Amino acid sequence: MKKILVTGGAGYIGIHICLLLLEQEFDVVIVDSLTNSNENSIKRLFDYKNKNFDIKNSTLQFYKGDIRDLEFLRKVFLESRNSGNSIDNVIHLAGLKSVSQSIDFPGKYWEVNVYGTLQILKVMEEFECKNFVFSSSATIYSQMQESPLNENAQISPINPYGKTKATVEEILKDFSKNKKQFWNFISLRYFNPVGAHPSGMFGEDPIGIPNNLFPYICQVGSARRDTLSIFGNNWPTNDGTCIRDYIHIMDLADGHIAALNFLNGEIDKVGSFIAVNLGTGVGTSVLELVEIFEKVNKLKINTHFTSRRLGDKAVVYANPEMAHKVLNWTSKRNIEDMCRDAWNWQLKNPSGY
Ligand code: NAD
Ligand code: UFG
Repeated sequence: MKKILVTGGAGYIGIHICLLLLEQEFDVVIVDSLTNSNENSIKRLFDYKNKNFDIKNSTLQFYKGDIRDLEFLRKVFLESRNSGNSIDNVIHLAGLKSVSQSIDFPGKYWEVNVYGTLQILKVMEEFECKNFVFSSSATIYSQMQESPLNENAQISPINPYGKTKATVEEILKDFSKNKKQFWNFISLRYFNPVGAHPSGMFGEDPIGIPNNLFPYICQVGSARRDTLSIFGNNWPTNDGTCIRDYIHIMDLADGHIAALNFLNGEIDKVGSFIAVNLGTGVGTSVLELVEIFEKVNKLKINTHFTSRRLGDKAVVYANPEMAHKVLNWTSKRNIEDMCRDAWNWQLKNPSGY
């Protein structure tokens, strides 16, 4: 195992995974259309590599293009093969991720997230690359399932975004049963990835008004937004606000290295599919999070309560035991680390990359 293709590598999660891969001396090839990211993240990655990993034996390449474009993907794989260093693993993050947008534009979501994934699998097959790590989501679990969520909990997504993720998992399962073509698949079901690289050079940079809690809090902290709307104060939790399993982005990135080690490990998997939660197993409410953020970063976040957001659930957190057992991975960073690193990124990059 040496050369890893990271689709969506310019995005929030991808760039942090690439940092770790380079640090650990993998060769990295990034494919990204930059539809939801900024070329400056890539420029910073090259700079960071040159400054910090210059003694490391790893290479970095970036291709701007769309995962739905078969010829483009073929070119990426072919150039690697011709260089004598073929791509042997794929971490597939490229995709669209907004729940609300997926309700307004379902066709776009099915096309990019499902058809796009099929195109990658097609080219991988042509180039005999069989190890595939997929970015799935805790959002695929049924709303009726109680936390902690195990991997065998019922899958029943309620929005097009979640349905595309669950469908890709079904596709991977079917492919893994093909006796003629041996695939090794791991689907990582992320809970709530937050925070930033401790350097403050990489972090989450949403386009427009943030949908998610963490970037919104950061923007209120830096006075870019006036106040945080807390969606509901009458949920059946101790303080009436929703509970989520926030996971530090660097722990999440570590989970991908663990997944690669698993796929390329000693045990011959001969056609396998496994789904693994990446979460901490710790639930934190919105009010608790705001309080910790204020305390750690010594600032005030203005908040007010509004009505519940459609599709939200009171409590969502992982049972992370499978990741520990199968991948030998556990999260190391706590909610204080997440708040500190997210704020450090915000302070150093008030308008993002
Ligand atoms: P992101 O939007 O920051 O990154 C996705 C990247 O994919 C972007 O850089 C975007 O430009 C690229 N992309 C989109 N469509 C493309 C296409 N057709 N061809 C090539 N590149 C394309 O999102 P992220 O938060 O880094 O998420 C990465 C993956 O993890 C996504 O698949 C997402 O669904 C999944 N995920 C994210 C979360 C989360 O909370 N961030 C939770 C669960 C799962
Ligand atoms: N919230 C607020 N105010 C905001 C934003 C969020 O109160 O401005 C609350 C939400 O109601 C929720 C919590 O903060 O209770 C977390 O919300 P996020 O939008 O940050 O995250 P979600 O748990 O709703 O969903 C996220 C991603 C999904 C992914 C899921 C995985 O957005 O794509 O985590 O569990 F699938």
